[in-house]
Amino acid sequence: MARQIGDVILEVEDLHTYCFTRFGTVKAVDGVSFNLRQGEALAIVGESGSGKTMTALSLLQLQPKPAARIIKGSIRLEGEDLLKKSEQEMRQIRGRRISMILQDPQTSLNPVFTVGNQLIEAIRNQHTGDDKRSLIRRAIDGLKQVRVAAPERRVEDYPHQISGGMKQRVVGAIAISCEPKVIIADEPTTSLDVTIQAQYLRLLREIQEETNLSLIFITHDFGIVAKMCDRVVVMYAGRHVESGPVRDIFNHPSHPYTQALLRSVPSMDEDVERLYSIDGQPPALWDLPEGCRFAPRCEYADDRCRRDYPPSFKVGKNGAEHTASCWRLESK
Ligand SMILES: Nc1ncnc2c1ncn2[C@@H]1O[C@H](COP(=O)(O)OP(=O)(O)OP(=O)(O)O)[C@@H](O)[C@H]1O
Ligand SMILES: [Mg+2]
Repeated sequence: MARQIGDVILEVEDLHTYCFTRFGTVKAVDGVSFNLRQGEALAIVGESGSGKTMTALSLLQLQPKPAARIIKGSIRLEGEDLLKKSEQEMRQIRGRRISMILQDPQTSLNPVFTVGNQLIEAIRNQHTGDDKRSLIRRAIDGLKQVRVAAPERRVEDYPHQISGGMKQRVVGAIAISCEPKVIIADEPTTSLDVTIQAQYLRLLREIQEETNLSLIFITHDFGIVAKMCDRVVVMYAGRHVESGPVRDIFNHPSHPYTQALLRSVPSMDEDVERLYSIDGQPPALWDLPEGCRFAPRCEYADDRCRRDYPPSFKVGKNGAEHTASCWRLESK
């Protein structure tokens, strides 16, 4: 079945998640907006510490409590405002309507339960009438869906008995077991080697094609973005600074930060002396500059950039699809 990109199902607007610590307030997410359509693969990219994971956790209200709190913004899933839901209602949403594959598969599985039991735990509430045998059947089917070989035997295994790549698949099987609308994959592959990584990503894409679910990929890797995603949101210091269709971002990166990120991607056909890296450090999230957060590292920055945060401007002719927050786009 061909994948079809449909209506917007998730809308995030002006999200703010701050961490209140003894040393001050860390503005981990400080005004992030984006939306996600049915059947779409959206990438969130940005340097380490830019707030990608905190954004994802906030969508599920799983930000580290009590330090981190969502203080402003809205998150709408199929029109429903998730920030108005109670903890009990959120429990019905997590896993069933939005599920998340965590950064490290090693820590997402419980070492003392078998693979089968962990899958059954995930699906049991949805199949309350089922007896043990049919639940096991469902767990085996779940493993088949993520192409685990000999699933009848694997359900009996404990996490330490299976390889890292297989663990990642099991985590994937748990994430899709309740047929969620949205899956968030936070760097699902960093602890895997490259071949297994490619296989796993292909698998996620295949599952997406079969089920037409929406994917959010959180990654540092523009190679993954180019291969796997339809649209990109670039984050810098707690904010989105540019977003748009993958092709537009690659062909016409419009925020100086995106341009710098793309310049630092190694190219196969160019013989470069050394890899480009962006000079300087991202600002401290507890002491942010007034104006554009990238200004201290930006070769184009002027007084206004340092004074006022730029709004988001439309880029190119592609309607409202491609936008970037940079004063240089104002006159265009
Ligand atoms: N419990 C916490 N208390 C205080 N600050 C925190 C806490 N958790 C995260 N942060 C801070 O929030 C900011 C955003 O972190 P986040 O994990 O979202 O970054 P990221 O973009 O996912 O980075 P990476 O690419 O390294 O995974 C970081 O500066 C981090 O130090
Ligand atoms: Mg992260």
